[in-house]
Amino acid sequence: MIELKNIRKSYKTRHETLEVLKGISLTVPEHSLVMLLGESGSGKSTLCNLLGLLDTATSGEYYLNGIPVHTLSSAERTKLRREQVSFVFQNYNLIPTMTAFENIELPLGYRNVAKKERLAIVENALHSVGLSERAGHRPAELSGGEQQRVAIARALVMNPSLLIADEPTGNLDRTTTKEIMKTLTEAGRKKTIFMVTHNEELTSYADIVIRLKRGEIEL
Ligand SMILES: Nc1ncnc2c1ncn2[C@@H]1O[C@H](COP(=O)(O)OP(=O)(O)OP(=O)(O)O)[C@@H](O)[C@H]1O
Ligand SMILES: [Mg+2]
Repeated sequence: MIELKNIRKSYKTRHETLEVLKGISLTVPEHSLVMLLGESGSGKSTLCNLLGLLDTATSGEYYLNGIPVHTLSSAERTKLRREQVSFVFQNYNLIPTMTAFENIELPLGYRNVAKKERLAIVENALHSVGLSERAGHRPAELSGGEQQRVAIARALVMNPSLLIADEPTGNLDRTTTKEIMKTLTEAGRKKTIFMVTHNEELTSYADIVIRLKRGEIEL
């Protein structure tokens, strides 16, 4: 479960303090698919970075599965992030010199998963995103949608309790978007997913829809 209580985030620039999140409170039960909508600059990515433990709030409380994140040291936060959170970014962030297989395998290596076990996990992940036949392709040899599916598979093999996807279907066509939503909703039965989108149609997949407007939740 995720609980935010009056989360504020401001950025100090040279001349002013910019309030980007102005008191966000929300409760999200485990295994929810949450969609985050709102116009450009409303604070969606900022909120994702806080939820994903990449950044800290200026004030307010954040409980992730009962852990008071707002009281943790930076090292403790990093540890928690590595254990519980995975990200899918709009620009995929795949390693260009590695094949699809190797990109998905990479995080498992960091976790000291044995080679034989890694093989089985990666093959299963490739299958689940429909890319078994593209295992040996490098990112440049994959379409945009295929690259995004590799990025999702890489995030899922970590088996995070929380998956943050900031516009994962941003540049994709309807068919590919549908495939990706299918992968995410299937995965979502076992984890909480926060997904940013500009696409109103996708809200039909969501358990919870959050609309941000200038740093506040629109009711
Ligand atoms: N590091 C930073 N320093 C100063 N201002 C920032 C910083 N990061 C973001 N902002 C400002 O915070 C506001 C919210 O940014 P954010 O990236 O969260 O928006 P968004 O809702 O994700 O928009 P988009 O749909 O365009 O991705 C913007 O006005 C942005 O200029
Ligand atoms: Mg953004």
